[in-house]
Amino acid sequence: MEKTRSSFSGKLGFILAAAGSAVGLGNIWRFPYLAAKYGGGTFLLIYIILSVTFGFALMVAEICIGRKTGLSPIGAFGKLNKKFSFLGYLAALIPVMILPYYSVIGGWVTKYFFSYATNNIPTNSAAVTDKSSIFSDFFNNFVCDTGSPILWFLIFIGVTALIVWFGVEKGIEKVSKIMMPVLVFLSIGIAIYVLFQDGALEGAKYYLIPDFSNMTPQTLLMTVVAAMGQLFYSMSLAMGIMITYGSYMKKDVNVESAVHKIEWFDTGIAFFAGLMVIPAIFAAGGSGIEKPGPGLMFVALPSVFDSMPGGKIIGTVFFLLVFLAALTSSISLMETVVSIFQDKFKMRRGTSCAIVLGICVLLGLPSSLGFGIWDITSYIGMTFLDLFDLLSNYILMPIAALLTCILVGYIIKPKAIIDEVELSGKFKHKKLFVVMIKYIAPVFLLIILVSSVLDTFSDSFTI
Ligand code: PHE
Repeated sequence: MEKTRSSFSGKLGFILAAAGSAVGLGNIWRFPYLAAKYGGGTFLLIYIILSVTFGFALMVAEICIGRKTGLSPIGAFGKLNKKFSFLGYLAALIPVMILPYYSVIGGWVTKYFFSYATNNIPTNSAAVTDKSSIFSDFFNNFVCDTGSPILWFLIFIGVTALIVWFGVEKGIEKVSKIMMPVLVFLSIGIAIYVLFQDGALEGAKYYLIPDFSNMTPQTLLMTVVAAMGQLFYSMSLAMGIMITYGSYMKKDVNVESAVHKIEWFDTGIAFFAGLMVIPAIFAAGGSGIEKPGPGLMFVALPSVFDSMPGGKIIGTVFFLLVFLAALTSSISLMETVVSIFQDKFKMRRGTSCAIVLGICVLLGLPSSLGFGIWDITSYIGMTFLDLFDLLSNYILMPIAALLTCILVGYIIKPKAIIDEVELSGKFKHKKLFVVMIKYIAPVFLLIILVSSVLDTFSDSFTI
């Protein structure tokens, strides 16, 4: 690295930046539709267990790898063990796969924000019984179109690239300090409102109470695979982002307590997003719960806002906050890739930004067009967007996580990480960390990897 590394001002700065990266569309858009799809309460329970064990161990490991080496992923893995340099490249590939389709959804959010702000969202007529149908038509007409989703996708990714280019993250950090609490407050408020609607309690039951009775070993495994993929995605793990952030972290910040805070914050927002969206579908007549997909949030919530007093304003504020949350995440995704290009190819920041933007626009087009003219569902049973999502979350991330566990558990040994944590105090969950990294996580990841690969090549796996 040529430039000297800046560091966060203190513990709060680090937590906010890491939380800004972690909290995003993963929590508000992806979590609710996966929870709806994989059995509600069962998914929620499995997710929480994984988050406090597996997510905790992996996040501690990644942050410490970054802080110990003071390098971003490619250099960091290589410094720990020459043979593992490739892991840095693998980790760097993952954001390149995620950012394009992330920005497609970011574009949808931007479009919804503008539609609310300019009063261009349809309104329900009392005569319709399935209240969500009018909103699902609105959503489908939009995503199946050609030009409009591309335009919004370009706007979203363009804004991301501009911010990364000009480096105004400082301003963004300030915005997110205000935005995060408002987002939490608004989500809780909307969730409470939704719960008072007719039929919503059925949805809350489905979401909160695990029901293992009609689970087969096969569906249970699929649920664990999905929850694990979601965990990586939501906590920005297994792709080098936390390593980069760790490299900026000061030595006297307590890693363990910082990780606990990020983990609870991230899981908390996802939890309330689920509590808004899932009961809302039940309240709106249930359509959508049978086959939940990426459009779930864009159908369920407008239908709720429509029935709320002041719903248009709430809708506007809500989509603005989601837009900002998505932006802080997309910035962290792009920043990682841009800085790798800069370091590796000794490129200027502007050049590296332009190249990354070009690659992401090309890779994003199939995801954007995949609901309309490039619909490939009849060939492979899923859209391009689902395909990118599947490849990154269920295949590449488990591979990166597995290799990280092997590196930490058996090559540099857990003690190297424990010593790093203990630079700033006692490591309270040391035993949990060692057992997870050495034994449970690798076995788990291996099972997950094998089953995702098998399922990808059989017809039964559709997202
Ligand atoms: N964690 C972010 C979210 O939940 C997405 C993300 C993934 C951001 C990977 C950065 C890196 O939306």
